[in-house]
Amino acid sequence: MEYGEVVRRRRMVRNYDPDRPVPPEVVDKLLGYAVHAPSAGFSQGWGFLVLDEPADRDAFWAATTPEGMADSGWSQGMRRAPLIVVPHSNRDAYLARYAEPDKGWTDRLESHWPVPYWHIDAGFASLLILLGTVDEGLGACFFGIMPDNIPDFRKAFGVPDEYTPIGAITIGYRVEDRLSPSLRRGRRKIAEVTHRGRWGAGY
Ligand SMILES: Cc1cc2nc3c(=O)[nH]c(=O)nc-3n(C[C@H](O)[C@H](O)[C@H](O)COP(=O)(O)O)c2cc1C
Repeated sequence: MEYGEVVRRRRMVRNYDPDRPVPPEVVDKLLGYAVHAPSAGFSQGWGFLVLDEPADRDAFWAATTPEGMADSGWSQGMRRAPLIVVPHSNRDAYLARYAEPDKGWTDRLESHWPVPYWHIDAGFASLLILLGTVDEGLGACFFGIMPDNIPDFRKAFGVPDEYTPIGAITIGYRVEDRLSPSLRRGRRKIAEVTHRGRWGAGY
């Protein structure tokens, strides 16, 4: 698919055909895109938990679904996804990488960092997965794991402390779903968000 079409077609999909698994070679392809993401200092401080077995997916939803939400339409559609990928960031990997001689931040202070590059890089990798799903004729949705649910999530899957789930991605063959009410906000125009030459000068 042409790149512009991939970008334009991408949207979060929240309902899936539960009887159509994502072929293993497609899963590999999507993860292959993820590890081609850029990363600060080529730190590659990310980790991806892949859940494609029904028992593992059930354990994921049991750990991460906020109380009272299990029966919601959102949950029901999302739970039908045959594949969940949970991208994680690893701050320590970046602090260690930037303590190396070519970077020199041997004090490992987080205050050197203009923004947390570890989360950014895991986000870049996630976007490559999302775009890859479009190219493969799949649907996907990136969504958050709430802070209260992260301890149960870690425990259920043995995630080490240094890894933080930045969200999760459901993936599968899309079926009809309800558009997010957030979309009513409308997409902001380039001119609304862009400043040429000087902030506020317009575009
Ligand atoms: C960081 C991030 C967190 C999000 N969290 C959720 C979420 O928890 N639940 C959900 O249904 N969608 C979530 N979304 C999807 C957004 O609602 C969606 O991207 C936005 O409404 C625009 O729609 P589109 O991606 O379909 O174009 C999230 C997206 C991002 C980038």
